[in-house]
Amino acid sequence: MSEQPAEGNTVYWPRVKEILDDLMARWEVKRGRRPLPGIHRYYWESPEQLANDVLSGIRAIEPGVPGRETAFVRSLARTIGTWGKMPLRGPFLNEEELDEIVSWIDAGMPESPSSPTGQSIADSTHGAPGS
Ligand code: HEM
Repeated sequence: MSEQPAEGNTVYWPRVKEILDDLMARWEVKRGRRPLPGIHRYYWESPEQLANDVLSGIRAIEPGVPGRETAFVRSLARTIGTWGKMPLRGPFLNEEELDEIVSWIDAGMPESPSSPTGQSIADSTHGAPGS
């Protein structure tokens, strides 16, 4: 039997993708354009892609780093480096949406109830949580 995250209000990848896609759709409406290519990726197709992504030189989610402290969540919650809160100039995520993303990262970025987690697929060298 593989380890499963706790049942109940576990967040899975489709919900995280929905939050992020919706955020960038609102950003595009507000700004009236697509985001510039070449800065960093703005859309993620899988937990593995997000788990291994480096945005403008900063690793978005590092194995073993609590969700709230990852550069990914910090960028969406306040500011990242000297650049400001993401997505730049808003709109931004609300607290509930941020909490959902944090819980998902802390649960190991599961794609679905039955799949391996994104963090176990990422180039992680640390042991399993609690080991
Ligand atoms: C490690 C986390 C992140 C870093 C280091 C980062 C870095 C940057 C940098 C350097 C810029 C360009 C700033 C400028 O032109 O002055 C930028 C722009 C932007 N970022 Fe991020 N970012 C991060 C996360 C995110 C996330 C999670 C999103 C959205 C879900 C996002 C959406 C955007 C958008 C929409 C822009 C503006 C693009 C445009 O004007 O066309 N960023 N980011």
